Amino acid sequence: MSSETRIERSTRAEPLSAALASKGRFFVFEGIDGSGKSTVSRRFAERLTAVGKDVVWTAEPTSSWMGDQVRRANREAESAFAETLLYVADRAEHTLQIRKWLEEGRWVVCDRYVGSTLAYQGVTLRRLMGPRTMEWLKAVNQPIIIRPDRTFLLKLDPELAMSRLMDREGRDKFEKLDFLRKVDALYARLAEDDPSYRVIDASQPVERVLDEAFLMIR
Ligand code: TMP
Repeated sequence: MSSETRIERSTRAEPLSAALASKGRFFVFEGIDGSGKSTVSRRFAERLTAVGKDVVWTAEPTSSWMGDQVRRANREAESAFAETLLYVADRAEHTLQIRKWLEEGRWVVCDRYVGSTLAYQGVTLRRLMGPRTMEWLKAVNQPIIIRPDRTFLLKLDPELAMSRLMDREGRDKFEKLDFLRKVDALYARLAEDDPSYRVIDASQPVERVLDEAFLMIR
């Protein structure tokens, strides 16, 4: 086989699914800012641990030096492309770590993954790139991601999410109602198109949200 053919095949390959990659399982939580996803994903990981699973909870942007650059870009970058590519770079490193955990048979619970880039940067870059944006974002992420076994989308009315956020300090530029409405709409589209997604009403008490997520593990 020529090297050209090999390259073509490898760039066309589907992202590796967690189930095929390993004994472990890979769960992702997505949602707009204020949807409660960090609390829910941590509690979900705790519940899995309580039933005897070997669980690791992780998040994006990561706590690595790369994640620090992402947070800095989020505050300071002038180019939306630079910021986007940093999210992807952080994810590329993170995916290598996730793959190791999965190969060890661990259950990985991740607070934000590729869906965040598709939804948030899908909104931000559309102003610059137009309708080709989503296709480009998927293509950039495709070689560096593992397909989650399940992606839980915590759905909350953006106005309610905003009112939760107002109580917190350090609001960033994303936390604006109009922006969150657009991100929410894009998440809804992603959930329709991607069979790994399950949508959960995040206005319910946390225990109910967790019960629903547990029922949807399989
Ligand atoms: P967090 O509040 O869940 O820690 O996320 C920090 C912000 O980063 C949040 O507003 C969403 C944003 N974000 C993106 O825009 N794209 C991404 O790919 C990721 C992982 C996060």
